[in-house]
This record gives sequence, C-alpha cells and structure tokens, in this order.
Amino acid sequence: MDPITLNDPAMNKLTTIESHFLQQQKLYPEVNAEVIDLLHDVAFAAKLVRREVVRAGLADILGLTGSTNVQGEEVKKLDLFANEKIICAIGQHGRFAIMGSEENDSIIIPPKNETGNYALLFDPLDGSSNIDVNVSVGTIFSIYRIKSEDPGNASLADCLQSGAEQVAAGYVIYGSSVVMVYTTGHGVHGFTYDPTIGEFLLSHENIITPERGKYYSANEGSWAQLNDGTKRFLDYLKEEDAETGRPYSTRYIGSLVADFHRNLLTGGVFVYPATKKHKQGKLRLMYEANPLSFICEQAGGRATDGERRILDIVPEELHQRTPLYIGSKEDVLVAEEFEQGKR
Ligand code: AHG
Ligand code: MN
Ligand code: MN
Repeated sequence: MDPITLNDPAMNKLTTIESHFLQQQKLYPEVNAEVIDLLHDVAFAAKLVRREVVRAGLADILGLTGSTNVQGEEVKKLDLFANEKIICAIGQHGRFAIMGSEENDSIIIPPKNETGNYALLFDPLDGSSNIDVNVSVGTIFSIYRIKSEDPGNASLADCLQSGAEQVAAGYVIYGSSVVMVYTTGHGVHGFTYDPTIGEFLLSHENIITPERGKYYSANEGSWAQLNDGTKRFLDYLKEEDAETGRPYSTRYIGSLVADFHRNLLTGGVFVYPATKKHKQGKLRLMYEANPLSFICEQAGGRATDGERRILDIVPEELHQRTPLYIGSKEDVLVAEEFEQGKR
C-alpha cells in the first residue's frame, strides 16, 4: 500500500489556533510576536476557564460570592474564578503593560520590570446570570497597542482608546462546544476546542455574517422602559412581510456572547438600547461592545449605538456603558432608522 501523501483527501487538515496565530504573524507585520504571545496566553486562559465551566456543578464555584462589583452587580464565584485565571495566565509572562477587567474597579499594572507594549481589556465571564443553570456563557477580550512611550508608565489613558484602535479582539463561548473566535483585522476565524487533544482546532475560517438575518435578540421584558423608536423597530420585525423575511424569530439567551455568536453565523440583530434603568445602555463599551463590534465589522456586519459607529466612540471611563445595535448590516441600518425617527 502506498504511503499517504500530503494532498491525499484523507489528510484532513488540522489547524491549531497556535499555528493560525503564526500564519497571521507571517502574513501581517503589525500582528507581531507580542500580539501573538498575548493571543496565546488568552487561548491558554480560556482552556483553564473552560475546565471549570464544564464541571461547574461539581466544583464549589457555583453561586454568589456575596460581593458586588464596580457595576453594582452581584458577583458569581465563576466570575471571580475566570477573572483570576485570566489575570494570572496573562500576568505570569509579563507581556502586557496594563489590563482592564469588568470585575476590577481600576486598571491592573504588572510589576515594573515585566511589561509589554499592549493593553488587554476583558470581560472574564459574560452571561453571569446563566452560570448556575448550564446556559452558554463566554469570555470577551480586546487588545490595544499602548500609546505611552515607556510601557513601565502605562496608565488608564492607554486603555481609553476608541475601538478602531484595536489590534486584536475575540471571544470564547463555553456552550455545547467551546469555540474561540478572533480577529486581528484580517478576517474572523473560529476554533473549536477538542478536549481529547487539548487544542482549539480551526472550524470556522473567514466567517462572513449574512447581510440580513432571521433572528432578533432583545429583552422585551423591558418593554415599558424602551423608547418609542426601539418599540416600533421590534414591532416592525414581528409584522408579516415575505419580501423582507418577516416576521423574524426572537432568540434571546441573556448571554451577549451567545446571542452574538448565533447571529454572527446565521444572521440577525442584537439590540440592547438605553432604557429607563440603564440610561447609557447596560453593555460596557471597552470589553463587550468594542471587541464584538470589531469582529462584527470584520465579518461584514454593522455595530452602532443607534447613532454612532461603536468603534468611533472615544471612551472617557473604563467601565462606561453604551447602547448596542449589532449584527447583520441591513438589520442594524433599519434599527437605526427607527431610532432616529426616520421610519
Ligand atoms: P455580564 O454577565 O458580563 O455582566 O454580562 C451580562 C450582559 C450580557 O451578557 C447580556 O446580553 C445582558 O447582560 C443581559 O441583560 P438583561 O438580563 O438585562 O437582558
Ligand atoms: Mn458581559
Ligand atoms: Mn462579565
């Protein structure tokens, strides 16, 4: 029997996320060794978080910690566990200059002699309300090159950059399978974790999101708090109109990363507008809206706050919130027309 050859169809190509990172580094000079190292560390941290998430019911990491975070939200044990794992996994290699986490009131600075030229902003565990009930949750991250000349003097200002300045962004969704999706500004690529070999393997190369979707994601329980434009948009999606594929189906998981991932792959729109309770919207600009907007635009979608492109917003605070309309380009454009009173 002849030995297998490289172009043999049976030679199914297995691309690990690490080898994909190295391909990106070879193809794109700005995706330099430091960025690749940071992405490596994020993928490693994701494996540590996954290990606990998939057995959360067995380990003593379900339930509340009894504390509240800077967001004024109850903190779940898995929020803190994920936060600590990411900070340690990234911090131990001294490759970053500064970090900002949803769970930390202020920025995280490494020891003076162990800094790099990049800032990492992240939501360690997105979808906290779903942790104890076995519904998909995730981790979302964003990487910027710092502006400070001296990494040893990095400050909050190095975090407060508009989303258009991101050099990389991504998320991990801990669901029926664990998938890591990232972009360095050269397309969007997804990797599915294979626990039998402990690797993230390329499963979704060059993700492109449909121009128009068939799902919408919104918490309609807040109907009484919604502004008129949002209400009219949601009513519009429910009307019968075969030409525009309406009515859309509603899909709202309560984990942004899960709703976003489904809409990215199948097409759809996610809206979390300003409400009476969240006057600036609930979702955070730096470690939820910006990274997902970078990915969404790279996949051909659109992300705004109803008026402005998310990636153009100049942040003023680390934990600032923003209304978020994100997903298929045509659907987000229609949402904006309703928000702006043009429909
Ligand atoms: P987090 O768990 O990081 O605080 O994020 C929760 C967010 C987001 O994941 C989700 O889309 C949204 O909260 C759900 O909010 P409502 O429960 O108000 O709909
Ligand atoms: Mn979140
Ligand atoms: Mn969170």
